[in-house]
Amino acid sequence: MSREWNALGLSHRFLRQHVRPGDFVVDATAGNGNDTLFLSRLVGERGRVLAMDIQPRAMENTGALLQKEGVENVRLVLDGHENMAAYAAEGSVDAVAFNFGWLPAGDHNVFTRKETSLPAVEAGLRLLRSGGAMSLCIYYGRNNGYDERDALLQFVRGLDDRVWSVMAVDFANRKNDPPIFVWIVKEG
Ligand SMILES: C[S@@+](CC[C@H](N)C(=O)[O-])C[C@H]1O[C@@H](n2cnc3c(N)ncnc32)[C@H](O)[C@@H]1O
Repeated sequence: MSREWNALGLSHRFLRQHVRPGDFVVDATAGNGNDTLFLSRLVGERGRVLAMDIQPRAMENTGALLQKEGVENVRLVLDGHENMAAYAAEGSVDAVAFNFGWLPAGDHNVFTRKETSLPAVEAGLRLLRSGGAMSLCIYYGRNNGYDERDALLQFVRGLDDRVWSVMAVDFANRKNDPPIFVWIVKEG
């Protein structure tokens, strides 16, 4: 069943409200490029998107989608998001989006893991400007298990509340491991 009220839908609502034309944003999990395309449209011609993934197939799929849509404001980087700081300056980023889990229609044994996801979130927070925001869609269960979800939630709950505002939304009545949405703002 496709639902309007889910983690991804919430992430798009918040990103749509936050991201402005001309912004610099990071899609930390490019996958098939759907979120990259969404972000590239939000930042427009004057803006830039850095899109990362570790799978060549994800880069190919994202590149093909962007080419089909005539998008030219995206830099595709085949590298782990834990290395994000090599591609963007501290304090220069308006928003970072993570969509954890595996590549839809891809190899379900290649998925995000806490060992790299936590350093990536930390790196992304350092890159944010004051007032910048980070979106996390946390898919978990099945192949992913629960370690990554637990580690991410523990980490974001521990962020200094003088600097960061953190909202975590779970769908309280849903069965079967409903994805969790987290929104983090660096208070300016
Ligand atoms: C749920 S998918 C992303 C879906 C994507 N946003 C879209 O619109 O299609 C998660 C992606 O994270 C990627 N991934 C796993 N570990 C990664 C890492 N360390 N750095 C960057 N990407 C990673 C996977 O290859 C997969 O494509």
